Amino acid sequence: MTTVLEALRKAEQWLRARGVPSPRTDAERILAHALSIERLDLYLQFARPLEPAELDVMREALRRRGQREPLAWVLGTVGFHTIDLAVSPGVLVPRPDTETLVDAALSWIAADEDPYYVADPCTGSGAVGLAIAAVRPGARCYLTDQSDAALENARKNVVALDLAARVAVLRGDLLQPIPTSRPIDLVVCNPPYIPSSDISALEPEVSRWEPRLALDGGPDGLVLVRRLATTAAARARRGLLLEVGHDQADAVAAILDAAGFVGVTTWKDLGGHTRVVGGRVASA
Ligand SMILES: C[S@@+](CC[C@H](N)C(=O)[O-])C[C@H]1O[C@@H](n2cnc3c(N)ncnc32)[C@H](O)[C@@H]1O
Repeated sequence: MTTVLEALRKAEQWLRARGVPSPRTDAERILAHALSIERLDLYLQFARPLEPAELDVMREALRRRGQREPLAWVLGTVGFHTIDLAVSPGVLVPRPDTETLVDAALSWIAADEDPYYVADPCTGSGAVGLAIAAVRPGARCYLTDQSDAALENARKNVVALDLAARVAVLRGDLLQPIPTSRPIDLVVCNPPYIPSSDISALEPEVSRWEPRLALDGGPDGLVLVRRLATTAAARARRGLLLEVGHDQADAVAAILDAAGFVGVTTWKDLGGHTRVVGGRVASA
């Protein structure tokens, strides 16, 4: 008979021995997941024995996490901005830093604008476009990606969040799958922006597990940024907002200037890094 407290201690030791960065927190989240309870409720149930089925779920989750598979894939879900998202293996786990991009977009979209057309190319799980649509009832969003796993994951989230009436998920390169007859006000994008040669040095959760298509921004990290700046300048009626790497803001601001955007502005993330660069369309 294993109690919750014993299971928690063993799980923490197991994860620590495998170099998992936050073994106690991850052990609590895995155990709460196995027991289908809130993490804080574990503390009210320390003496409770685990059922065999709960132990099975916990062991499998620990096995995966011990191999440094991202915790959000193991749990199948992650909180992002005001929403909960399903995240499947093969799809980038939305990061807290990306909430800065959502907040920047919300600061540009008036609460009563309806309709307001948003494109979220490189959508992954749908995090950015869905978080915007959840908060702005007038937003109509196009989510695009080239990865089948991402598209399937994003579609699942659209349905779970009951946003299918205002959000379309499209397969293809950047803005290309959005018919040219359809308006786009704002392009909001978290593209792959890591320089190719930096990827192998990242933590195992990223370098070993997350898809290269979601990370690799080419030799200087900015290959997609340049292409998107040009295509967004030709199509967006209001502007372009991009998430950037911690040292890329000046280079991206120069790319937006060169593409014809005006009033180029930046936003910092909670860690104090310049995380978002945005420019407006001159005629807007
Ligand atoms: C950094 S991830 C961002 C995912 C999501 N927006 C987020 O913030 O969590 C980049 C995504 O871009 C997709 N992608 C890469 N190249 C693309 C392209 N040329 N056109 C559309 N999507 C692309 C990848 O499949 C991946 O899902």
